[in-house]
Amino acid sequence: MEELDRVLSGGLVPGSVTLLGGDPGIGKSTLVLQMLAGVMSAGHSALMVSAEEAPAQVRLRADRLGTPGNLWVTEEPDVRAIEVMVKRLRPAVVAVDSVQTVFDSDVAAPPGSVAQVRACAQHLSTVARSSGAAVVVVGHVTKDGVLAGPRTLEHLVDTVLSFEGDRHHSLRLLRALKHRFGVTGELGIFEMTAAGLAAVRDASALMLAERRVDTAGVVVVPALEGRRPLLVELQALANTSASVSPRRSAQGLDGGRLAMLLAAVERHVGLNMSVLEVFASAVGGVRVIEPAVDLAVCLAVVSAVSGVAVPRDLVAYGEVGLSGEIRGVSQAGKRHGETSRLGFKRAVVPSSVPEDDRLELIRVSSISEAVDALSLLGQPTVSGSEPRFAGRQSTVRSEGWQRRRSVGRPGARAGSHRPISARGSRTA
Ligand code: TYD
Ligand code: MG
Repeated sequence: MEELDRVLSGGLVPGSVTLLGGDPGIGKSTLVLQMLAGVMSAGHSALMVSAEEAPAQVRLRADRLGTPGNLWVTEEPDVRAIEVMVKRLRPAVVAVDSVQTVFDSDVAAPPGSVAQVRACAQHLSTVARSSGAAVVVVGHVTKDGVLAGPRTLEHLVDTVLSFEGDRHHSLRLLRALKHRFGVTGELGIFEMTAAGLAAVRDASALMLAERRVDTAGVVVVPALEGRRPLLVELQALANTSASVSPRRSAQGLDGGRLAMLLAAVERHVGLNMSVLEVFASAVGGVRVIEPAVDLAVCLAVVSAVSGVAVPRDLVAYGEVGLSGEIRGVSQAGKRHGETSRLGFKRAVVPSSVPEDDRLELIRVSSISEAVDALSLLGQPTVSGSEPRFAGRQSTVRSEGWQRRRSVGRPGARAGSHRPISARGSRTA
């Protein structure tokens, strides 16, 4: 599998242990079976330990995914018995699905417990070293996002792969969080289809397939995943809230970073964010956490608040600092190439970005400059004058989107009608 080899900088290393983590149902078993198919088509033997599903079920799925019939399949959950099997069969690759369902009989703890998971991982790495087989261990991620429960597992293995995506979307991303034999940061992009996982050739096109144009709160950002540029649609939604601490929710974005960006928008654009609940997300089940998405997040939020859409032929990228300044980011050329390839014509970029004949660049040095360049709040506010806005003002309640008249000096919340008494009465 080309995408997998890319993430592993070549492929599986004999005698090593690879942990494949991900949410339940994301497609780990599918990925493993297809990986074994690839290994076997290169003439190697493979053993699938499936303590999670019955061998007949595994066979059925393996057949469907094109894994050769001479794949060894067992449901043996005892790691010592697995060791004996590996010594006898000498497979080039052993997959254990999952580490939470196998056990070491020397450990008096139930399968899936921290002690068992650690002991099994330890034992399986001994098996890998002594037999020379490449061992791939599947681990379910717990709710708080920690691989296979104990973080300590990551230190026991050579490579940690994370399989991510939104179960309700077909896109799946594979990344190496740790890799003893190569670089991390490379991204494998797959699509879950009826015939299993397929490598995605044009991820940006897939990401933007359902894009809403001319909609307020939507901004496309040319992000970088590993060494690959990827166009991602960001969305924001802002509503007035009666709560003392309105909700902030980030999906596919860094939540702490969102809080910082909202504070920067409040201070440097002069929008009163403290009365708004804000939801921001990266569409398609991806996670974009590089600072280069900051500017696009801010513009999506301002656009959501004012109701003015960002032009459809435009992308934005740049890191936002605490003073509202836009900082340069790496790989501008790669970002521009992908942007123009997908038909976009313009980009709002940091002021340091050099001329590029593929795109019309709108260079900005601050958030407010970017907001004004796109007229997201209508005419720029002149200190002392009444705020003027374009767009669907009637659908947004006034105190939410009103730009503060004296930017940089947060004053009293103009026109706020927060129900002060509501909190006390609700707790009764
Ligand atoms: P699975 O590999 O079992 O996930 P995990 O091992 O991470 O729990 O696959 C999860 C989902 O993928 C399953 O609900 C159905 C879907 N799927 C497909 O859409 N196409 C396929 O070819 C296969 C095998 C699974
Ligand atoms: Mg599974």
